[in-house]
Amino acid sequence: MPDLTSNTGGIVSPNPFWLASAPPANSGGQVQRAFDAGWGGAVWKTLGTPIQNVSSRFGATRWKGASGVGFNNIELITDRPLETNFREIYETKKKYPKHAIIVSLMVETREEWKEIIARSEDAGADGLELNFGCPHGMCERGMGSAVGQEPKVNERITGWAKEFAKVPVLVKLTPNVGDIVPHGLAAQRGGADGVSLINTIKSIIGVDIDRFVPEPRVAGLSTNGGYCGAAVRPIALHMTAALSRDPGFHLPISGIGGITNWRDALEFILLGSSSVQVCTEVMLRGYRIVEDMIEGLETYMSERGFERLDQLVGKAVPAYSEWGDLDLNYETVAKIDASACIGCQLCMVACHDGAHQCIHPNPDGSRVPTIDEDECVGCNLCQIVCPVPQCISMVQVPNGYTPATWNEHVEAGAQLRPKKGAH
Ligand SMILES: Cc1cc2nc3c(=O)[nH]c(=O)nc-3n(C[C@H](O)[C@H](O)[C@H](O)COP(=O)(O)O)c2cc1C
Ligand code: SF4
Ligand code: SF4
Repeated sequence: MPDLTSNTGGIVSPNPFWLASAPPANSGGQVQRAFDAGWGGAVWKTLGTPIQNVSSRFGATRWKGASGVGFNNIELITDRPLETNFREIYETKKKYPKHAIIVSLMVETREEWKEIIARSEDAGADGLELNFGCPHGMCERGMGSAVGQEPKVNERITGWAKEFAKVPVLVKLTPNVGDIVPHGLAAQRGGADGVSLINTIKSIIGVDIDRFVPEPRVAGLSTNGGYCGAAVRPIALHMTAALSRDPGFHLPISGIGGITNWRDALEFILLGSSSVQVCTEVMLRGYRIVEDMIEGLETYMSERGFERLDQLVGKAVPAYSEWGDLDLNYETVAKIDASACIGCQLCMVACHDGAHQCIHPNPDGSRVPTIDEDECVGCNLCQIVCPVPQCISMVQVPNGYTPATWNEHVEAGAQLRPKKGAH
């Protein structure tokens, strides 16, 4: 059986699956049930000066009958007394010594940071996560994303935390920035042992078209919230990869954002995460989703001969490059497997209206369309809309041209193949 033990900046857990700091990690009873279900770690719901929450506070995208593909919240940090949280952290750690408990923190002054870090460590925290990400409510008070968006402030507060902490410190980054890299580098300069990303994305989830109020509604008003869930995964993956491939960035990463199953988790791991955190999918489906995550990752590793998790961490990073380094002479075309095709012709509509008008009705009268390969630009659209898995494949066409990138073309005039579909 492969070894799933994970190490993120010195925080060790029996597997890489952690609860993210959010409602599922709000109390001792919950975290203990999550550990029983199989979660390897939990980032406790952010502690700070307890706040008062509003009602209602969540919203979700409803898309083609499914609710929750994207999720939105205007909840703040913990609304429970600090004493209660610390007592429950202590009890949970005592009962589950091998699981990782990371305490998420958000306070304002240097003195407050010093005190809350000492109390977290006394309670038994294996690590700390500095919440520099919350995009609503707390940023207006000079915390959360207000810190995460300012590299100098991020570096300074991370420095304070490192000065006071004996356990590893992760900095949780906000995605509400143009480029994540300077913010990861600021955490690194501050001495962080790792970063976690992403927190939620500033958003309005929708508008009540009868009441003329955005959602979620609080007594006839609304405000922007934080977007998360499956819909944000591509953004989170990109930010994780952007940090992983930056030559100046060397910290471990705990990946977060839209993870719903083992495969999503693995994608974060392959792009450089040594642990992953989940919030929305647990809120929607409960702690037991981790059983499939563990089994799926173990099966994947066994089938491919990977013995340890660290053999996978960052394995796809070298293959992530700038657009200018892609081979412009590489050519693919779509091919339809007539024996699998059900004749729905969705590919034909998509290619005609949204691509390069090269899928046509079959002259022999069959419902299986034909592809004019000379005109196909290999865009993938038909494969994306085809309802039958593996019915359309994208096949490389040898064209006799040697690989040439845009960067090479600009520098040395490398020869590019004649353009298809540009008429
Ligand atoms: C209702 C709710 C409350 C959250 N509270 C916190 C919090 O207190 N501290 C924090 O760092 N992140 C908080 N988050 C953000 C999550 O930890 C996580 O970064 C984000 O939801 C993305 O992960 P997901 O797509 O798996 O939900 C919260 C998210 C939700 C939905
Ligand atoms: S979308 Fe797929 S199944 Fe439908 S006609 Fe095209 S190839 Fe056949
Ligand atoms: S790959 Fe794009 S251009 Fe080629 S057939 Fe499919 S949709 Fe049309």
